[in-house]
Amino acid sequence: MSKRFYITTAIDYVNGQPHLGHAYEKVISDVIARSRRSLGEDVFFLTGLDEHGQKVQQAAQAEGKNPQAYCDELAAEWKSFAARLELTIDDFVRTTEPRHKETVQAILSKLHAVGHFYKASYKGFYSTKEETFLTDKDRRPDGTFDPAYGEVVELVEENYYFKLKDQQQWLIDYIEANPSFVAPENRRNEVLGFLKNNVLEDLCISRPVTRMNWGIPLPFDKDYVTYVWFDALVNYVSIPAAHGDPTIVRTLNPQLSTLPPSPSAPARPRGNEMEAGKPQLSLWPADVHVIGKDILKFHAVYWPIMLKAMGLPLPKQILAHGWWQKDGEKISKSTGNIVDPMAVIDEWGLDAFRFYVVRELDIGPDGNWTDAGFQARYSAELANGLGNLVNRSLSMLKRYRNGIVPAHSNDLAADAGRITQETTAQLRACKLQGALQSIWALVNRANLYVEQTAPFRLAKDLAQAKRLDSVLYTLCECCRILAVLLWPFLPSTSGRIYAQLGLGGSPDKLSATAWGGLTEGQQIGEVVPLFPRKDQPTK
Ligand code: ME8
Ligand code: MG
Repeated sequence: MSKRFYITTAIDYVNGQPHLGHAYEKVISDVIARSRRSLGEDVFFLTGLDEHGQKVQQAAQAEGKNPQAYCDELAAEWKSFAARLELTIDDFVRTTEPRHKETVQAILSKLHAVGHFYKASYKGFYSTKEETFLTDKDRRPDGTFDPAYGEVVELVEENYYFKLKDQQQWLIDYIEANPSFVAPENRRNEVLGFLKNNVLEDLCISRPVTRMNWGIPLPFDKDYVTYVWFDALVNYVSIPAAHGDPTIVRTLNPQLSTLPPSPSAPARPRGNEMEAGKPQLSLWPADVHVIGKDILKFHAVYWPIMLKAMGLPLPKQILAHGWWQKDGEKISKSTGNIVDPMAVIDEWGLDAFRFYVVRELDIGPDGNWTDAGFQARYSAELANGLGNLVNRSLSMLKRYRNGIVPAHSNDLAADAGRITQETTAQLRACKLQGALQSIWALVNRANLYVEQTAPFRLAKDLAQAKRLDSVLYTLCECCRILAVLLWPFLPSTSGRIYAQLGLGGSPDKLSATAWGGLTEGQQIGEVVPLFPRKDQPTK
């Protein structure tokens, strides 16, 4: 059983609205997953939902629903969001699933047994209204707390803590010895700076059930539930465990196999797939965890320490993307400054959305959505660039050669070969914006070639028939190669280019980029504009 390329996204809080930031993260992860498939690798792509915690408990209560029913309703919406983005996911984790809870408990039991946790009391200021502890950072300049917190009382609470002392130096050494562990570079520096300039405080891993009960019970103390990160982060290993990943199953036994089976879970060996006799999958360690910059510390500091304590190897890379704003301001539901990805997709199509977010923003820096910027790229790069190239190439083949592919020609073979190599290297390095820039170098080269060779003029001169054949072949072959290069980014457009060329199958393997794939004599299909030009809405 060979290991798959295992890619994950952050799991979204179920009680939030799916917005541009969520859509962006899932799309870039899908482009990486598809690129790897196109490169010929076996991939496992995981996304899902973070469903426990105070906010969910309160929101469910406010709607008079039990929290599980509340989560079930929202989860259906999130799943259709993933489907709408055409994510090629292999599984969808929900942290309220028995298969996840079992692994969380197995890990907690194992770590507790070897002394990684201790119980201590914490004394602090507590807002009963917000049901949260406040710190000095929450004080206003005059030292008081915002009246929004209601009555603030001093409270003592006992909780479990994960020991982080003595864990700092090995992690610094590890990150220094493995330059690609945290990417991009500035995020790696941020993590190293944090580790070198701060003393890690032990991580609180529990909440007393009297205060919050919508969580996974601690297996060693029924008065407590697991608090956020020992629940959420564990999804990255609980799903491989459910698929029988040998590294994880070996490491977490016997805890995993001696837990009492949960009522709704199938009998061990766990996981629906194994029940149905599906093969076990080798996934861990993850190849890349794609996350946003705000949760970098949890992924690049706490998660490696948790994994080392469990005895599991570390993921190969934490890839942190930046945050989107709209019109230079924070995206916020309360101020109405939002981009609804579904509305954009309804109006402009999924591929236009996928293209814009990947082309506009490199993985790392923050981005800014403007409707004008979106429309400018749609019209310049999609409609006039790619769309026009494919449309005029195929239309000329129809007009001048009845849609029949002429004899081979190598006019742009060298350009296409070089650009394919560049694009492939960018894809391997998760440089998605760079890959699109390379691909558009071929779009532009081919459009320039149309201007330079002027096929409409050649068509008027019978003596130029051979030359025209050669130009038409070159253009259609460029369109075919573009379809293959574009598949990870614009899957449906790329399929449409293939279909318009009269080709069967899917352009989903980069190996098909070798020049000369189009066969002489082949009949192309119907020619339809890929990106219809839109009247600019007056705003
Ligand atoms: O943090 N631009 O969930 P979440 C880009 N459940 N990305 C954004 C964004 C924006 N404006 N807003 C949010 C959580 N994100 C936890 C994660 S992982 C084990 C647990 C990104 O719903 C954010 O950075 O608040 C994160 O990666 C993801 O959306 C989910 O955020
Ligand atoms: Mg968040």
